[in-house]
Amino acid sequence: MFEKYWEFLKEVFAEDPKMIPHTEDVFRFAEMIAQDLGIQGKERRIIALSALLHDVGIVEAFRKHGSREGKYQHIEGPPLARFIMKQEKEEEEVIDRVAFLVGHHHDFASVDGLDFQILIEADMLVNLADEKWSREKLAQFIQDFFKTRKGRELAEEKYLCSGTM
Ligand SMILES: [Fe+2]
Repeated sequence: MFEKYWEFLKEVFAEDPKMIPHTEDVFRFAEMIAQDLGIQGKERRIIALSALLHDVGIVEAFRKHGSREGKYQHIEGPPLARFIMKQEKEEEEVIDRVAFLVGHHHDFASVDGLDFQILIEADMLVNLADEKWSREKLAQFIQDFFKTRKGRELAEEKYLCSGTM
């Protein structure tokens, strides 16, 4: 369904192949949360595409600015996201919203919709693994950050239960 996007991402991430499994995980979590909320149609497509493309600017950010920091990804990501979505003939409204999400996904204070919230939850479900926090701090963070039922449930399963996932 999104083969062309995966092909594009494999090219874009050629120098940083670990971004592919990262993107696969974020995409999978975003789909699970959206599914649980019964989101369909255009909104579902926006969520799927934003998960696929959210980090698309990371290699270009490093190449041009010497940094993978969010603020540079936010500059370099949207044009790449627009390029591939135009090629795939997505609706204008979808392209604009996904480009906005790609360009703001590290600005948690800018969350202005459920699609945005789902994207940051899906990304955080993967990225929390890098934090060396105490169980108490993790529990508090999960409580505050995750607003969707499925996102919070997945975070608790992944980070607060003793088993591995
Ligand atoms: Fe990410």
